[in-house]
Amino acid sequence: MNTPPPPNNRGIDKRKDRTVDSLETNLATATAANAQLSHEINPRWYPAFHIAAQAGWINDPNGLCYFNDRYHVFFQHHPYSAHWGPMHWGHVTSRDLVHFHREPIALAPSIEADRDGVFSGSGVVGPDGKLELFYTGHRWRNGVDEADGNLQVQCRARSTDGQRFNKLGVVIDEVQGLRHFRDPKVFRAGEQWLMVVGACSATNRGQVLLYRSSDLSRWDFDSVLYEDPDPDVFMLECPDFFPLVTPNGARYWVLTYCPMGKRKSGYDFCNDHTAGYVVGTWAEGDHFRAHTPFRMIDHGNEFYAPQTLESSDGRRIMFAWMGSFTIPAPPQTESDGWFGQLTVPRELSLTDELWLHNEPIAGLARLREDQPTVSKGQLAVPPNELHSLCREIGPFDMSITVDRDRCTAERYGVLVHHTYADRGTYIAVDEQQGRLVVDRRTTGLGNGGYRSIPLTGGALTLRILVDNGSVEVFCTQADGTTASLTSYSFPSEGSRGVALLAESGEAAFSDVRMHRLGSIWDR
Ligand code: FRU
Repeated sequence: MNTPPPPNNRGIDKRKDRTVDSLETNLATATAANAQLSHEINPRWYPAFHIAAQAGWINDPNGLCYFNDRYHVFFQHHPYSAHWGPMHWGHVTSRDLVHFHREPIALAPSIEADRDGVFSGSGVVGPDGKLELFYTGHRWRNGVDEADGNLQVQCRARSTDGQRFNKLGVVIDEVQGLRHFRDPKVFRAGEQWLMVVGACSATNRGQVLLYRSSDLSRWDFDSVLYEDPDPDVFMLECPDFFPLVTPNGARYWVLTYCPMGKRKSGYDFCNDHTAGYVVGTWAEGDHFRAHTPFRMIDHGNEFYAPQTLESSDGRRIMFAWMGSFTIPAPPQTESDGWFGQLTVPRELSLTDELWLHNEPIAGLARLREDQPTVSKGQLAVPPNELHSLCREIGPFDMSITVDRDRCTAERYGVLVHHTYADRGTYIAVDEQQGRLVVDRRTTGLGNGGYRSIPLTGGALTLRILVDNGSVEVFCTQADGTTASLTSYSFPSEGSRGVALLAESGEAAFSDVRMHRLGSIWDR
Protein backbone atom coordinates (compact mmCIF):
# COMPACT_ATOMS: atom_id res chain seq x y z
CA MET A 1 0.00 0.00 0.00
CA ASN A 2 1.23 3.50 -0.82
CA THR A 3 1.57 5.10 2.58
CA PRO A 4 0.95 8.85 2.79
CA PRO A 5 3.31 10.99 4.86
CA PRO A 6 2.97 10.46 8.61
CA PRO A 7 0.53 12.90 10.21
CA ASN A 8 3.17 14.92 12.06
CA ASN A 9 4.92 15.81 8.82
CA ARG A 10 2.04 17.86 7.63
CA GLY A 11 3.59 21.25 7.99
CA ILE A 12 1.85 22.39 11.17
CA ASP A 13 3.54 25.59 12.16
CA LYS A 14 3.70 25.57 15.94
CA ARG A 15 5.04 29.11 16.15
CA LYS A 16 1.98 30.87 14.79
CA ASP A 17 -1.28 30.99 16.64
CA ARG A 18 -3.50 31.39 13.58
CA THR A 19 -2.28 29.86 10.36
CA VAL A 20 -4.90 29.96 7.65
CA ASP A 21 -2.29 28.84 5.13
CA SER A 22 -1.40 25.80 7.17
CA LEU A 23 -5.11 24.94 7.48
CA GLU A 24 -5.51 24.97 3.72
CA THR A 25 -2.31 23.03 3.20
CA ASN A 26 -3.26 20.48 5.81
CA LEU A 27 -6.77 20.06 4.38
CA ALA A 28 -5.43 19.63 0.86
CA THR A 29 -2.84 17.08 2.04
CA ALA A 30 -5.38 15.14 4.08
CA THR A 31 -7.99 15.11 1.30
CA ALA A 32 -5.47 14.01 -1.32
CA ALA A 33 -4.04 11.28 0.92
CA ASN A 34 -7.56 10.09 1.70
CA ALA A 35 -8.57 9.96 -1.98
CA GLN A 36 -5.42 7.98 -2.72
CA LEU A 37 -6.09 5.54 0.13
CA SER A 38 -9.65 4.98 -1.12
CA HIS A 39 -8.31 3.09 -4.16
CA GLU A 40 -6.96 0.51 -1.78
CA ILE A 41 -10.21 -0.12 0.10
CA ASN A 42 -11.26 -3.73 0.48
CA PRO A 43 -15.07 -3.54 0.11
CA ARG A 44 -15.99 -6.84 1.78
CA TRP A 45 -17.20 -5.21 5.03
CA TYR A 46 -17.46 -1.63 3.84
CA PRO A 47 -20.97 -0.26 4.59
CA ALA A 48 -23.54 0.50 1.90
CA PHE A 49 -26.09 2.41 3.98
CA HIS A 50 -24.02 3.77 6.86
CA ILE A 51 -21.75 6.80 6.87
CA ALA A 52 -18.05 5.88 6.73
CA ALA A 53 -15.05 7.75 5.36
CA GLN A 54 -14.05 7.01 1.80
CA ALA A 55 -10.88 5.68 3.42
CA GLY A 56 -9.23 5.79 6.83
CA TRP A 57 -10.63 5.81 10.33
CA ILE A 58 -13.72 7.52 11.77
CA ASN A 59 -15.22 7.83 15.23
CA ASP A 60 -17.77 10.24 16.77
CA PRO A 61 -20.44 12.08 14.78
CA ASN A 62 -19.79 15.82 15.09
CA GLY A 63 -21.40 19.13 14.15
CA LEU A 64 -24.84 17.71 13.26
CA CYS A 65 -27.04 20.53 11.97
CA TYR A 66 -29.33 21.79 9.22
CA PHE A 67 -27.81 24.64 7.23
CA ASN A 68 -28.62 26.03 3.75
CA ASP A 69 -31.28 23.38 3.01
CA ARG A 70 -28.93 20.56 3.83
CA TYR A 71 -28.13 18.39 6.79
CA HIS A 72 -24.46 18.43 7.70
CA VAL A 73 -22.85 15.43 9.33
CA PHE A 74 -19.21 15.76 10.35
CA PHE A 75 -17.22 13.06 12.07
CA GLN A 76 -13.93 12.45 13.83
CA HIS A 77 -11.61 11.28 11.10
CA HIS A 78 -8.05 10.12 10.67
CA PRO A 79 -7.60 10.29 6.91
CA TYR A 80 -4.15 8.68 6.80
CA SER A 81 -4.87 5.19 8.11
CA ALA A 82 -7.55 2.85 9.50
CA HIS A 83 -6.43 3.68 13.04
CA TRP A 84 -7.15 6.58 15.37
CA GLY A 85 -4.61 9.38 14.97
CA PRO A 86 -4.51 13.20 14.92
CA MET A 87 -8.15 14.03 14.47
CA HIS A 88 -9.68 15.87 11.50
CA TRP A 89 -13.35 16.50 10.80
CA GLY A 90 -14.69 14.52 7.84
CA HIS A 91 -17.87 15.90 6.27
CA VAL A 92 -20.94 14.69 4.36
CA THR A 93 -24.21 16.43 3.52
CA SER A 94 -27.75 15.33 2.78
CA ARG A 95 -31.09 16.80 1.79
CA ASP A 96 -33.13 14.07 3.46
CA LEU A 97 -30.84 12.25 5.94
CA VAL A 98 -31.20 9.22 3.66
CA HIS A 99 -28.95 9.97 0.67
CA PHE A 100 -25.56 11.56 1.32
CA HIS A 101 -22.92 13.47 -0.58
CA ARG A 102 -19.24 13.45 0.32
CA GLU A 103 -17.65 16.83 1.03
CA PRO A 104 -13.99 17.71 1.40
CA ILE A 105 -12.46 17.27 4.85
CA ALA A 106 -13.67 20.29 6.83
CA LEU A 107 -11.13 20.77 9.63
CA ALA A 108 -7.53 19.66 10.12
CA PRO A 109 -5.04 20.39 12.91
CA SER A 110 -3.48 23.73 11.96
CA ILE A 111 -3.24 26.07 14.94
CA GLU A 112 -1.32 25.68 18.17
CA ALA A 113 -4.57 25.07 20.11
CA ASP A 114 -5.53 22.03 18.01
CA ARG A 115 -2.01 20.90 17.23
CA ASP A 116 -2.65 17.25 18.20
CA GLY A 117 -6.24 16.98 17.09
CA VAL A 118 -9.51 18.68 16.19
CA PHE A 119 -11.62 16.77 18.69
CA SER A 120 -15.40 16.36 18.88
CA GLY A 121 -17.90 19.19 18.89
CA SER A 122 -21.10 20.54 17.43
CA GLY A 123 -22.61 22.93 14.88
CA VAL A 124 -25.30 25.62 14.89
CA VAL A 125 -26.51 28.27 12.48
CA GLY A 126 -25.54 31.66 13.91
CA PRO A 127 -27.69 34.83 13.97
CA ASP A 128 -26.00 36.08 10.78
CA GLY A 129 -26.84 32.87 8.91
CA LYS A 130 -23.34 31.40 9.06
CA LEU A 131 -22.52 27.84 10.00
CA GLU A 132 -20.72 27.88 13.34
CA LEU A 133 -18.69 24.92 14.55
CA PHE A 134 -17.43 24.44 18.09
CA TYR A 135 -14.82 21.80 18.79
CA THR A 136 -12.14 20.83 21.28
CA GLY A 137 -8.60 21.82 20.42
CA HIS A 138 -6.47 19.02 21.76
CA ARG A 139 -2.78 18.88 22.72
CA TRP A 140 -0.74 16.25 24.52
CA ARG A 141 1.16 17.98 27.30
CA ASN A 142 4.32 16.06 26.45
CA GLY A 143 3.65 16.47 22.72
CA VAL A 144 3.38 12.74 22.19
CA ASP A 145 0.80 10.88 24.28
CA GLU A 146 -1.54 10.88 27.28
CA ALA A 147 1.22 10.00 29.83
CA ASP A 148 1.55 13.56 31.14
CA GLY A 149 -2.07 14.52 30.54
CA ASN A 150 -3.66 16.72 27.94
CA LEU A 151 -4.46 20.34 27.35
CA GLN A 152 -7.97 20.85 26.00
CA VAL A 153 -9.65 24.11 25.01
CA GLN A 154 -12.86 24.93 23.19
CA CYS A 155 -12.52 26.48 19.73
CA ARG A 156 -14.75 28.01 17.08
CA ALA A 157 -14.74 27.84 13.26
CA ARG A 158 -17.15 29.47 10.85
CA SER A 159 -18.34 29.06 7.27
CA THR A 160 -20.48 30.99 4.84
CA ASP A 161 -20.86 28.24 2.23
CA GLY A 162 -20.87 25.19 4.52
CA GLN A 163 -17.72 23.81 2.88
CA ARG A 164 -14.78 26.02 3.76
CA PHE A 165 -14.24 26.93 7.37
CA ASN A 166 -12.25 29.72 8.99
CA LYS A 167 -10.88 29.01 12.38
CA LEU A 168 -11.61 31.77 14.90
CA GLY A 169 -9.42 30.26 17.61
CA VAL A 170 -10.05 29.53 21.27
CA VAL A 171 -13.35 30.63 22.86
CA ILE A 172 -12.91 28.83 26.20
CA ASP A 173 -9.37 28.46 27.44
CA GLU A 174 -7.90 25.74 29.57
CA VAL A 175 -9.68 25.42 32.95
CA GLN A 176 -7.15 24.92 35.73
CA GLY A 177 -7.69 21.72 37.68
CA LEU A 178 -9.69 19.83 35.06
CA ARG A 179 -8.01 16.66 33.80
CA HIS A 180 -10.26 16.37 30.74
CA PHE A 181 -12.39 19.08 29.20
CA ARG A 182 -13.95 18.37 25.81
CA ASP A 183 -16.79 17.85 23.35
CA PRO A 184 -18.77 21.13 23.37
CA LYS A 185 -22.41 20.83 22.31
CA VAL A 186 -23.98 24.21 21.60
CA PHE A 187 -27.71 24.89 21.40
CA ARG A 188 -30.13 27.77 21.61
CA ALA A 189 -32.32 28.32 24.69
CA GLY A 190 -34.47 31.44 24.48
CA GLU A 191 -32.25 34.49 24.01
CA GLN A 192 -29.08 32.69 24.99
CA TRP A 193 -26.66 30.22 23.47
CA LEU A 194 -25.79 27.41 25.82
CA MET A 195 -22.94 24.94 25.67
CA VAL A 196 -22.53 21.66 27.54
CA VAL A 197 -18.98 20.31 27.84
CA GLY A 198 -17.74 17.02 29.32
CA ALA A 199 -15.18 17.23 32.13
CA CYS A 200 -13.11 15.34 34.64
CA SER A 201 -13.11 17.45 37.82
CA ALA A 202 -10.14 18.10 40.09
CA THR A 203 -11.53 15.35 42.35
CA ASN A 204 -11.74 12.92 39.44
CA ARG A 205 -15.52 13.01 39.02
CA GLY A 206 -17.36 12.94 35.70
CA GLN A 207 -19.22 16.19 35.12
CA VAL A 208 -21.15 18.10 32.48
CA LEU A 209 -20.34 21.82 32.61
CA LEU A 210 -22.73 24.48 31.36
CA TYR A 211 -21.57 27.69 29.65
CA ARG A 212 -23.61 30.55 28.22
CA SER A 213 -23.12 33.21 25.59
CA SER A 214 -25.14 35.94 23.93
CA ASP A 215 -22.98 36.18 20.80
CA LEU A 216 -21.24 32.79 20.33
CA SER A 217 -17.94 34.55 20.89
CA ARG A 218 -17.70 35.27 24.62
CA TRP A 219 -18.59 32.29 26.80
CA ASP A 220 -19.15 32.46 30.56
CA PHE A 221 -19.16 29.52 32.92
CA ASP A 222 -22.67 29.01 34.33
CA SER A 223 -22.62 25.88 36.52
CA VAL A 224 -21.93 22.20 36.86
CA LEU A 225 -25.09 21.00 35.16
CA TYR A 226 -24.62 17.42 36.28
CA GLU A 227 -22.19 15.17 38.12
CA ASP A 228 -22.55 11.44 37.64
CA PRO A 229 -23.31 9.98 41.11
CA ASP A 230 -21.10 6.95 40.37
CA PRO A 231 -17.69 7.63 42.00
CA ASP A 232 -15.95 5.28 39.52
CA VAL A 233 -16.98 7.51 36.65
CA PHE A 234 -14.25 10.08 36.06
CA MET A 235 -15.20 11.69 32.74
CA LEU A 236 -18.39 12.26 30.75
CA GLU A 237 -17.57 12.31 27.05
CA CYS A 238 -19.76 13.77 24.32
CA PRO A 239 -22.66 15.25 26.33
CA ASP A 240 -25.85 16.34 24.61
CA PHE A 241 -28.83 18.04 26.25
CA PHE A 242 -32.25 18.50 24.65
CA PRO A 243 -35.96 18.59 25.50
CA LEU A 244 -38.52 15.91 24.56
CA VAL A 245 -42.25 15.79 25.19
CA THR A 246 -43.93 12.55 26.36
CA PRO A 247 -47.21 11.25 24.83
CA ASN A 248 -48.96 12.73 27.90
CA GLY A 249 -47.62 16.16 26.98
CA ALA A 250 -45.05 16.50 29.78
CA ARG A 251 -41.79 18.20 28.79
CA TYR A 252 -38.50 16.78 30.07
CA TRP A 253 -34.81 17.33 29.39
CA VAL A 254 -32.69 14.43 28.25
CA LEU A 255 -28.98 14.44 29.07
CA THR A 256 -26.97 11.91 27.07
CA TYR A 257 -23.30 11.22 27.72
CA CYS A 258 -20.60 8.55 27.73
CA PRO A 259 -19.25 7.80 31.21
CA MET A 260 -15.60 6.75 31.35
CA GLY A 261 -14.82 4.34 34.18
CA LYS A 262 -18.32 2.86 34.46
CA ARG A 263 -18.20 -0.72 35.71
CA LYS A 264 -20.15 -3.67 34.33
CA SER A 265 -23.31 -4.50 36.23
CA GLY A 266 -24.85 -7.86 35.26
CA TYR A 267 -25.93 -7.53 31.65
CA ASP A 268 -25.54 -3.75 31.68
CA PHE A 269 -22.62 -1.46 30.82
CA CYS A 270 -20.60 -4.38 29.44
CA ASN A 271 -18.93 -2.40 26.65
CA ASP A 272 -15.65 -0.64 27.24
CA HIS A 273 -17.47 2.39 25.86
CA THR A 274 -21.00 2.92 27.16
CA ALA A 275 -23.44 5.59 25.99
CA GLY A 276 -26.48 6.41 28.05
CA TYR A 277 -28.95 8.98 29.31
CA VAL A 278 -30.73 10.44 32.28
CA VAL A 279 -34.09 12.17 32.01
CA GLY A 280 -35.01 15.05 34.25
CA THR A 281 -36.33 18.55 34.63
CA TRP A 282 -34.42 21.75 34.12
CA ALA A 283 -35.24 25.42 33.78
CA GLU A 284 -32.94 28.36 32.97
CA GLY A 285 -30.95 29.33 36.02
CA ASP A 286 -31.87 26.17 37.91
CA HIS A 287 -30.16 22.82 38.48
CA PHE A 288 -30.88 19.79 36.34
CA ARG A 289 -32.91 17.35 38.46
CA ALA A 290 -32.61 13.75 37.26
CA HIS A 291 -35.81 11.69 37.46
CA THR A 292 -34.24 8.47 36.22
CA PRO A 293 -31.05 6.53 36.83
CA PHE A 294 -28.42 6.40 34.09
CA ARG A 295 -29.61 3.97 31.41
CA MET A 296 -28.07 2.63 28.22
CA ILE A 297 -29.38 4.04 24.97
CA ASP A 298 -28.57 0.91 22.97
CA HIS A 299 -27.75 -2.60 24.19
CA GLY A 300 -25.39 -3.84 21.48
CA ASN A 301 -21.62 -4.16 21.45
CA GLU A 302 -20.87 -0.95 19.56
CA PHE A 303 -22.76 2.26 20.17
CA TYR A 304 -20.87 5.29 21.40
CA ALA A 305 -20.58 9.08 21.32
CA PRO A 306 -24.14 9.76 20.12
CA GLN A 307 -25.11 13.26 19.07
CA THR A 308 -28.50 14.66 18.07
CA LEU A 309 -29.89 17.37 15.86
CA GLU A 310 -33.37 18.77 15.41
CA SER A 311 -34.63 18.02 11.88
CA SER A 312 -36.22 20.74 9.76
CA ASP A 313 -39.64 19.39 10.80
CA GLY A 314 -38.86 19.23 14.51
CA ARG A 315 -37.87 15.58 15.03
CA ARG A 316 -34.98 14.76 17.36
CA ILE A 317 -32.54 12.63 15.34
CA MET A 318 -29.53 10.79 16.75
CA PHE A 319 -26.44 9.39 15.07
CA ALA A 320 -23.87 7.40 17.03
CA TRP A 321 -20.51 5.90 16.26
CA MET A 322 -20.38 2.11 16.12
CA GLY A 323 -17.63 2.53 18.65
CA SER A 324 -14.64 0.33 19.14
CA PHE A 325 -11.33 1.63 20.47
CA THR A 326 -10.09 -1.34 22.41
CA ILE A 327 -9.82 -4.47 20.24
CA PRO A 328 -8.57 -3.86 16.69
CA ALA A 329 -11.32 -4.89 14.28
CA PRO A 330 -10.76 -7.14 11.25
CA PRO A 331 -10.74 -4.25 8.71
CA GLN A 332 -7.81 -2.81 10.73
CA THR A 333 -5.87 -5.99 11.36
CA GLU A 334 -6.31 -7.14 7.77
CA SER A 335 -5.44 -3.71 6.33
CA ASP A 336 -8.71 -3.10 4.50
CA GLY A 337 -7.89 0.60 4.36
CA TRP A 338 -10.82 1.87 6.42
CA PHE A 339 -12.53 1.43 9.74
CA GLY A 340 -15.45 2.98 11.60
CA GLN A 341 -19.02 3.82 10.69
CA LEU A 342 -21.96 5.72 12.13
CA THR A 343 -25.29 4.11 12.99
CA VAL A 344 -28.30 4.81 10.80
CA PRO A 345 -30.02 8.03 11.88
CA ARG A 346 -32.60 7.29 14.55
CA GLU A 347 -35.64 9.23 15.66
CA LEU A 348 -35.92 9.63 19.41
CA SER A 349 -39.03 9.72 21.56
CA LEU A 350 -39.70 9.61 25.27
CA THR A 351 -42.32 7.33 26.86
CA ASP A 352 -44.54 8.41 29.75
CA GLU A 353 -42.37 6.19 31.96
CA LEU A 354 -39.33 8.21 30.78
CA TRP A 355 -37.63 5.56 28.66
CA LEU A 356 -35.75 6.93 25.67
CA HIS A 357 -36.89 5.10 22.58
CA ASN A 358 -34.96 5.09 19.29
CA GLU A 359 -35.94 3.76 15.89
CA PRO A 360 -34.59 4.19 12.34
CA ILE A 361 -35.95 7.33 10.69
CA ALA A 362 -38.97 6.51 8.51
CA GLY A 363 -37.17 7.83 5.40
CA LEU A 364 -34.77 4.91 5.51
CA ALA A 365 -37.45 2.92 3.66
CA ARG A 366 -36.51 4.97 0.57
CA LEU A 367 -33.32 2.93 0.30
CA ARG A 368 -35.37 -0.23 -0.32
CA GLU A 369 -34.54 -1.45 -3.79
CA ASP A 370 -37.18 -4.06 -4.50
CA GLN A 371 -40.56 -5.44 -3.58
CA PRO A 372 -40.21 -7.22 -0.29
CA THR A 373 -39.75 -10.94 -0.15
CA VAL A 374 -42.81 -11.61 1.97
CA SER A 375 -44.08 -14.54 3.87
CA LYS A 376 -47.39 -13.42 5.34
CA GLY A 377 -48.45 -16.69 6.87
CA GLN A 378 -46.92 -18.58 9.69
CA LEU A 379 -43.58 -20.22 9.38
CA ALA A 380 -42.84 -23.16 11.66
CA VAL A 381 -39.31 -24.46 12.02
CA PRO A 382 -39.14 -28.08 13.27
CA PRO A 383 -36.91 -28.99 16.21
CA ASN A 384 -33.17 -28.65 15.57
CA GLU A 385 -33.61 -27.53 11.99
CA LEU A 386 -32.38 -24.60 10.01
CA HIS A 387 -34.79 -23.04 7.53
CA SER A 388 -32.98 -20.97 4.92
CA LEU A 389 -34.85 -17.80 3.87
CA CYS A 390 -32.26 -16.89 1.25
CA ARG A 391 -28.78 -18.10 0.44
CA GLU A 392 -27.31 -14.88 -0.83
CA ILE A 393 -28.24 -11.29 -0.08
CA GLY A 394 -26.29 -8.05 0.31
CA PRO A 395 -27.36 -5.28 2.71
CA PHE A 396 -31.00 -5.63 3.73
CA ASP A 397 -33.85 -4.49 5.96
CA MET A 398 -35.94 -7.24 7.52
CA SER A 399 -38.93 -7.42 9.81
CA ILE A 400 -40.26 -10.53 11.45
CA THR A 401 -42.71 -11.46 14.20
CA VAL A 402 -41.63 -14.11 16.66
CA ASP A 403 -44.72 -15.93 17.98
CA ARG A 404 -43.26 -16.91 21.31
CA ASP A 405 -46.52 -18.42 22.61
CA ARG A 406 -46.39 -21.01 19.85
CA CYS A 407 -42.73 -21.88 20.36
CA THR A 408 -41.50 -24.88 22.28
CA ALA A 409 -37.81 -24.48 21.38
CA GLU A 410 -35.27 -23.51 24.02
CA ARG A 411 -33.57 -21.09 21.73
CA TYR A 412 -34.64 -19.90 18.29
CA GLY A 413 -34.30 -16.97 15.98
CA VAL A 414 -32.69 -15.47 12.90
CA LEU A 415 -29.19 -16.18 11.64
CA VAL A 416 -27.88 -13.29 9.52
CA HIS A 417 -24.56 -13.08 7.68
CA HIS A 418 -25.12 -16.82 7.36
CA THR A 419 -22.11 -18.30 5.58
CA TYR A 420 -20.67 -21.81 5.38
CA ALA A 421 -20.96 -24.37 8.19
CA ASP A 422 -23.84 -22.40 9.73
CA ARG A 423 -21.66 -19.52 10.75
CA GLY A 424 -23.41 -16.20 11.26
CA THR A 425 -24.66 -13.65 13.77
CA TYR A 426 -27.53 -15.19 15.69
CA ILE A 427 -30.43 -13.00 16.84
CA ALA A 428 -32.11 -15.43 19.19
CA VAL A 429 -34.82 -15.71 21.79
CA ASP A 430 -33.27 -17.61 24.68
CA GLU A 431 -36.24 -18.92 26.69
CA GLN A 432 -34.06 -20.28 29.49
CA GLN A 433 -32.48 -16.92 30.12
CA GLY A 434 -35.65 -15.02 29.21
CA ARG A 435 -33.64 -12.73 26.95
CA LEU A 436 -33.26 -11.69 23.35
CA VAL A 437 -29.63 -12.24 22.43
CA VAL A 438 -27.39 -11.01 19.61
CA ASP A 439 -24.66 -13.64 19.57
CA ARG A 440 -21.48 -13.28 17.49
CA ARG A 441 -19.83 -16.51 18.60
CA THR A 442 -19.93 -17.97 15.09
CA THR A 443 -20.02 -14.79 13.03
CA GLY A 444 -16.71 -15.24 11.30
CA LEU A 445 -14.11 -12.69 12.16
CA GLY A 446 -13.67 -10.15 14.88
CA ASN A 447 -14.72 -9.79 18.45
CA GLY A 448 -17.20 -12.44 19.66
CA GLY A 449 -19.42 -12.48 22.72
CA TYR A 450 -23.06 -11.57 22.96
CA ARG A 451 -25.36 -8.79 24.13
CA SER A 452 -28.95 -9.17 25.26
CA ILE A 453 -32.09 -7.56 26.63
CA PRO A 454 -34.75 -8.99 28.96
CA LEU A 455 -37.97 -10.32 27.47
CA THR A 456 -41.20 -9.13 29.05
CA GLY A 457 -43.64 -11.69 27.58
CA GLY A 458 -45.70 -12.36 24.44
CA ALA A 459 -44.88 -11.92 20.78
CA LEU A 460 -41.90 -9.90 19.57
CA THR A 461 -41.45 -7.92 16.42
CA LEU A 462 -37.93 -7.46 15.20
CA ARG A 463 -36.61 -5.01 12.64
CA ILE A 464 -33.14 -6.05 11.58
CA LEU A 465 -30.85 -3.85 9.47
CA VAL A 466 -27.91 -5.78 8.08
CA ASP A 467 -25.05 -4.05 6.30
CA ASN A 468 -21.80 -5.58 5.05
CA GLY A 469 -20.18 -5.32 8.49
CA SER A 470 -22.93 -4.57 11.00
CA VAL A 471 -26.27 -5.61 12.46
CA GLU A 472 -28.80 -3.26 14.09
CA VAL A 473 -31.74 -4.93 15.84
CA PHE A 474 -34.84 -3.00 16.93
CA CYS A 475 -37.15 -5.03 19.14
CA THR A 476 -40.73 -4.24 20.14
CA GLN A 477 -42.43 -6.46 22.71
CA ALA A 478 -46.12 -7.15 23.28
CA ASP A 479 -46.27 -4.67 26.18
CA GLY A 480 -44.83 -1.89 24.00
CA THR A 481 -41.29 -2.10 25.46
CA THR A 482 -38.65 -1.34 22.84
CA ALA A 483 -34.89 -1.67 22.66
CA SER A 484 -32.11 -1.55 20.09
CA LEU A 485 -28.93 -3.60 19.85
CA THR A 486 -26.14 -2.39 17.53
CA SER A 487 -23.09 -4.51 16.82
CA TYR A 488 -20.41 -4.97 14.23
CA SER A 489 -20.63 -8.28 12.40
CA PHE A 490 -17.81 -9.31 10.06
CA PRO A 491 -18.88 -12.44 8.19
CA SER A 492 -16.52 -15.06 6.81
CA GLU A 493 -15.90 -15.44 3.11
CA GLY A 494 -18.57 -16.77 0.77
CA SER A 495 -22.18 -15.91 0.09
CA ARG A 496 -24.13 -14.38 2.96
CA GLY A 497 -27.63 -15.69 3.57
CA VAL A 498 -30.40 -15.56 6.16
CA ALA A 499 -31.90 -18.52 8.02
CA LEU A 500 -34.33 -19.29 10.83
CA LEU A 501 -33.28 -21.70 13.55
CA ALA A 502 -35.01 -23.76 16.22
CA GLU A 503 -33.04 -25.53 18.95
CA SER A 504 -34.53 -28.34 20.99
CA GLY A 505 -38.20 -27.72 20.16
CA GLU A 506 -40.23 -25.95 17.50
CA ALA A 507 -40.15 -22.25 16.62
CA ALA A 508 -42.91 -20.17 15.04
CA PHE A 509 -42.53 -16.94 13.08
CA SER A 510 -44.87 -14.82 10.96
CA ASP A 511 -44.98 -11.67 8.81
CA VAL A 512 -41.47 -12.03 7.45
CA ARG A 513 -40.46 -9.21 5.09
CA MET A 514 -37.10 -8.61 3.52
CA HIS A 515 -35.93 -5.76 1.28
CA ARG A 516 -32.53 -5.25 -0.27
CA LEU A 517 -31.14 -1.83 0.65
CA GLY A 518 -29.22 0.40 -1.74
CA SER A 519 -26.33 2.74 -1.15
CA ILE A 520 -26.68 6.10 0.60
CA TRP A 521 -24.03 7.74 -1.62
CA ASP A 522 -25.09 9.95 -4.51
CA ARG A 523 -21.78 9.77 -6.36
C1 FRU B 1 -15.13 10.01 22.16
C2 FRU B 1 -13.87 10.87 22.09
C3 FRU B 1 -14.16 12.31 22.45
C4 FRU B 1 -13.05 13.05 21.76
C5 FRU B 1 -12.88 12.24 20.51
C6 FRU B 1 -11.47 12.16 20.00
O1 FRU B 1 -15.05 8.88 21.35
O2 FRU B 1 -12.87 10.33 22.93
O3 FRU B 1 -14.25 12.56 23.82
O4 FRU B 1 -13.37 14.38 21.50
O5 FRU B 1 -13.35 10.95 20.78
O6 FRU B 1 -11.41 11.49 18.78
